[in-house]
Amino acid sequence: MSSKDLTSDNNLLRVCLDKPFSDQKPGTSGLRKSTKYFQQSNYLESFLEAILQTLPGIEGGILVVGGDGRFGNKHGIDVIIRMAAAHGVNKIITTVDGILSTPAASHLIRTEKAVGGIILSASHNPGGSEGDFGVKINGPNGGPAVESLTDAIYAKTTKLDHYLIFNHDPISLDSSGTHAISNTIIEVIDGIDAYVELMQKIFDLDKIRDFLNNDFHIAFDAMHAVTGPYAIRLFEGLLNTPSGTVRNGVPLEDFGGCHPDPNLTYAKDLASLLLEGKDFAFGAACDGDGDRNMILGRNCFVNPSDSLALLTANATCVPAYSNGLVGVARSMPTSSAVDVVAKDLGIDCFETPTGWKFFGNLLDSGQITLCGEESFGTGSNHVREKDGLWSVLFWLQILAEKKCSVQDLMRQHWAKFGRHYYSRHDYESIETDKAQDLYMRVESLLPSLIGSSFASHNVSLADNFTYRDPVDGSITNRQGLRIILDDGSRVVLRLSGTGTQGATLRVYLERYVSSNGNLTQDPQEALAELIQTIDSFAEITKRTGMKRPTVIT
Ligand code: G1P
Ligand code: ZN
Repeated sequence: MSSKDLTSDNNLLRVCLDKPFSDQKPGTSGLRKSTKYFQQSNYLESFLEAILQTLPGIEGGILVVGGDGRFGNKHGIDVIIRMAAAHGVNKIITTVDGILSTPAASHLIRTEKAVGGIILSASHNPGGSEGDFGVKINGPNGGPAVESLTDAIYAKTTKLDHYLIFNHDPISLDSSGTHAISNTIIEVIDGIDAYVELMQKIFDLDKIRDFLNNDFHIAFDAMHAVTGPYAIRLFEGLLNTPSGTVRNGVPLEDFGGCHPDPNLTYAKDLASLLLEGKDFAFGAACDGDGDRNMILGRNCFVNPSDSLALLTANATCVPAYSNGLVGVARSMPTSSAVDVVAKDLGIDCFETPTGWKFFGNLLDSGQITLCGEESFGTGSNHVREKDGLWSVLFWLQILAEKKCSVQDLMRQHWAKFGRHYYSRHDYESIETDKAQDLYMRVESLLPSLIGSSFASHNVSLADNFTYRDPVDGSITNRQGLRIILDDGSRVVLRLSGTGTQGATLRVYLERYVSSNGNLTQDPQEALAELIQTIDSFAEITKRTGMKRPTVIT
């Protein structure tokens, strides 16, 4: 423990900006740019100043700060501490080595009654000096900042002429302890403890341990990112799985040169291990900042949309949800698999735009318990972010209760509810203008599609999705182009809000087969006609020159 107190305001600097930055508009999850871009003089400071001037309650409040360990994390935390102190924050809570997963940060913000949090992460994007960096802002409910707040922050950045910062040596993040800069207390805590305690409250870990220790072998890939230390504590510690269960468990600044996105392309090693059906019955991976998850069984990949449906159908296996769910929600492009389960359970199912922040009001007002997105995100009302390790434990709890394989569980689910064949095709790094033109052309053609034939069916609805928040009535429009067919099949087109190189076009494909249909087809085959039809209708190959998507999920 050490304590430094600088009371002399000679150390409080007011740094003038030559001119404001015009490109600090936060996307789906905060401000995300290449690391090099963030290294421009005063770039990070400008965005932080705008946050500190905008977030209500900053002066005299508590702020949670941490990150996923990528290159720039510790430097960023140092800058935030010195700037937050300059803005009169009462207490900054940060973590040893600056390691704090997004769900763990959400939990801390809630339990510490903070005014918000700043999480340094570009989520699943690569890190390092050649990779990406990002600043995510969370509000006092622990969730991603709502649009009105990020809009206000952006507006501020475009007019900023200075920022405030204390001149002070970096606070050591090597161990826990309490420090001070002027009147601001800086508490460095272990970033793992509180989260692990929360998991112990939600799940029956003893039951999971007995099941796993009975010859059910699992592998977890932390992808050299933030979940490593959490997973080692949970799996190799509390659940007593063999050492080595957690692969790539040490967070590295460049994630070992890998892309910390848990999907079949970027977590290929783990996927091969499971899909070749060798030594493991269950595999899982999480992304850079620990909010995404991928679930695999022996010879079996669990589509994230199915995962949400399955967690919903089996929620009462988990002690924290043993009394059932109040409602569920999914993002618009996520398949309707969960809708069918919700109907069966007699609970509400909401459809929100892409991005976790849209679940916030529904969770805060107690209208939903679980929610999820097709992009490998599932979560519940225990925090206000999606939560990778929570999802993995949820799956293990169900398996421990049902004592069956992942594949059996999936097949039983489809046999009861039918199967929503689903796939997402991502076309990455398209020239921005080309992507915009393609998107706007399709948007303009939508009205003429209604009633016409598309992939052997009639189009019953074609629009750009508009969301009315059931809690505050706010309207969010232009959230993705939907083509819905009369058999319930869908194609959705969106442009990503998280990429940093050119544009990414996402094409979401879905087709429902009832429980007496063919439930064991390869999804790409089951969706082949939709894939072909949207390619020729939207002129994807023709306009991008890409014969196939960069990533198929
Ligand atoms: C992507 C996902 C979205 C998720 C977001 C943050 O956003 O599609 O579901 O909430 O990352 O993890 P996109 O790049 O599509 O805007
Ligand atoms: Zn993430």
